[in-house]
Amino acid sequence: MSDDKTDPAQANADSKRDVSRRDFLNEITLGALGVAGLSGAALTYQFFSPKVLFEQSTTFRAGNPDLYPVNSVTFLQDQQVYIVRTAAGFYAVSAVCTHLGCITQWKPEANMIVCPCHGSKFQPDGKKIGGPAASPQPHYAISLTTDGELQVDKLQIIKADQVLKV
Ligand code: FES
Repeated sequence: MSDDKTDPAQANADSKRDVSRRDFLNEITLGALGVAGLSGAALTYQFFSPKVLFEQSTTFRAGNPDLYPVNSVTFLQDQQVYIVRTAAGFYAVSAVCTHLGCITQWKPEANMIVCPCHGSKFQPDGKKIGGPAASPQPHYAISLTTDGELQVDKLQIIKADQVLKV
């Protein structure tokens, strides 16, 4: 004689255990699908977002000419440019060393621009005095805006003898 009778309490407990295992697996599956969906959405957003390289403008305003005393050299760190004012006028000299691209420093006590990397030396007008740099510091185009401010265009290299008279 076979024993087909099962304990109803035991069957109920097994059923609850099966349901809770099923619920657990469902939650795990939903969670994994949610993570995969969010990852896919993030990748899709990244794929369709514009790939724009935001670069600093090559033209900048250097302020009113009165900010610069005659016979002064002013280093504009954010632009890496020297604004030089002489009795003849203004010129803008690159502060990036022509040797290997280090940022030079203005040394007023020596009246020269010096590169801290390998010791190149330049006059305030960018002419090379010494060191390994092969060429002088370039001059950028400098002009006055319609409202009377200095404007420098770092894309335009001009001759060193061109001066903005103000
Ligand atoms: S980078 Fe200026 S001297 Fe070498």
